Parts: sequence; C-alpha cells; structure tokens
Amino acid sequence: MTPAPSATAARARSAAPGHHVSGPGPAQASSARRAGRALLKDFAEVEQLQVSTKGPGDFVTRADRQAEQTIREALMEARPSYGFLGEEGGPVEGEDPTRRWIVDPLDGTTNFLHGIPHFSISIAVEDPHGAQGKPEITTGLVYQPLTDESFWAEKGRGAWLQDQRLRVSSRRDLSESVIATGIPFMGHGNFVEWNRIFGAVAPEIAGIRRLGSAALDLAWVAAGRFDGFWESGLQPWDCAAGILLVKEAGGFVTDYRGTDMAIERKQLLAANDVLHSRLHKLLAGALRNQ
Ligand code: IPD
Ligand code: CA
Ligand code: CA
Repeated sequence: MTPAPSATAARARSAAPGHHVSGPGPAQASSARRAGRALLKDFAEVEQLQVSTKGPGDFVTRADRQAEQTIREALMEARPSYGFLGEEGGPVEGEDPTRRWIVDPLDGTTNFLHGIPHFSISIAVEDPHGAQGKPEITTGLVYQPLTDESFWAEKGRGAWLQDQRLRVSSRRDLSESVIATGIPFMGHGNFVEWNRIFGAVAPEIAGIRRLGSAALDLAWVAAGRFDGFWESGLQPWDCAAGILLVKEAGGFVTDYRGTDMAIERKQLLAANDVLHSRLHKLLAGALRNQ
C-alpha cells in the first residue's frame, strides 16, 4: 500500500543549513503584500455589502483595479524596462524584450465577491522568447493575503512556501488522490468537455475540489495539498506563476495532449509524474471521440 503522505508542513523541507533562500524578488513580494493588505480591508467591507440592496459588484471591480494599479506601479518602479501583462489593464511592451510581468491582482474574484475567504494574487516574470524561442516563466509568486502565505518559485532553483522547500505529493494511487479542477460557468468554458473528463476521473479518485482560484490550486499542487489539477480556458495571468511552482516542486504540467503547451492551448493538467500519466490516460480516453 502507498504510504500516506504527511502534512504539507512535513512534506515541505526546510532549507538545508547554509543554503541561501533568496525569496521572491523584493518588488514582487512587497507589491503583493501591499496590494494584499488593501484587498483584506476591502474583503472585510465586502462581507458587509452582501446584504445591501446594491450588492458588492462595483465595489469589487474597483478593489480589483486598485490592486492591479498598486502592483503595477511598484513593479514598474523596480524594473522600468520590463513589459507588463495584467488582467485588468491589458499588455504594455517594455524596452527589455526578454522580460515581462504577468499579473493577476485578484484570482478568485467570485469568492471575494461572495465573502468566501479564498483568493490570491499571482505575479510571474516571463521571458517571452525563452531559451528555445518559446515563452518561459522564470519566477512565480502566488500570495494568499488571508493566510499571509507566499508560494514562490525560481526556474532551476526550486519552489518554496516562505522558506520551506516544496515538493508535489508523493501519492501514486488515484484512489487516494484529491484532484482540484475549475468548472465552466456562465459564459466561460466548455461544459461538454468538462463533463466528459469529470465522468472519467471522478469514479477513480478520493475526491474532487473546486475552490475558485486557479493560481492557488496550482500552488497547492506544488505544496502537495492537492494531488493534481485540471482546467481549460485559463489565461496566462491565472496560471503562469502556478505552472512554474508545480514544475519546480517536481511536478508535471502539460496540455490535455501531454505536451508542454498548457498556456498556449489553454488546457492544463498538473500532478506528480505517476498521477499525471494516469490522469492523462483518463483524459485522453474521455476526449477521444469528441
Ligand atoms: C478565475 C479563477 C477560477 C477559474 C477561472 C478564472 P478570476 O480567475 O482562477 O478558479 O476557474 O477560470 O477566470 O476571474 O477570479 O481572476
Ligand atoms: Ca484569474
Ligand atoms: Ca482576476
């Protein structure tokens, strides 16, 4: 029988003595914290607005835009030559063609709007042309303001939760695995495809979760809290930082065909190597005669 994986804290290994943990870039970390503080204040207000007749819709839109502006100003001040792709403001080209920020200032907007305490800020750095002429994420930070947890990764140097090294879960049996997903909703996504995959995966696993922040779903795969994740239709700002986190924590991230084109094809399957291959077989079977 597969040994039961231990809790995240135990799975995440402390940095070896003498090993220097650099942490997310100071601009990334401080802008996320600053925007996070503002979001927390606004979240408290949103909880009050649930019962008002007007509802929290406009207020949340403002909070979201304000968070992006805070992050953008801080990042552009720290690295004026980088380009910028944010969910709210659209793309800005930088003088340096090898670096751009990819930012989701509030991932989990529906949760935030409904007073559900699960949302995050995602900040990645991308080299749009990469080593092989293909876009490459070089650093990623997913920050959860409510728990003050910073999940961060640097290409080739590992993934970390604060100063604890992260590893994906070591489960090998689907029957013991908890898998996260994003479910299509009004105006978004492909219900037929999602239903087929759900029908193939759900009977094989211990549980499915839909928590509503793709960036955190991926960070939690990196931390071994989830054993896997699939979703289609994600934008680069939802998943760029999270993809690097999973890869640097030793996991696999592909599109539904199993190739390294998750962002380009807007299909994402993430898990450890063994579960990835099992899930990929189930997905391929479910989508074969579409
Ligand atoms: C959404 C969240 C959600 C995912 C949606 C995204 P938003 O981002 O990541 O988990 O299922 O596809 O659009 O709108 O909250 O930034
Ligand atoms: Ca998002
Ligand atoms: Ca968002």
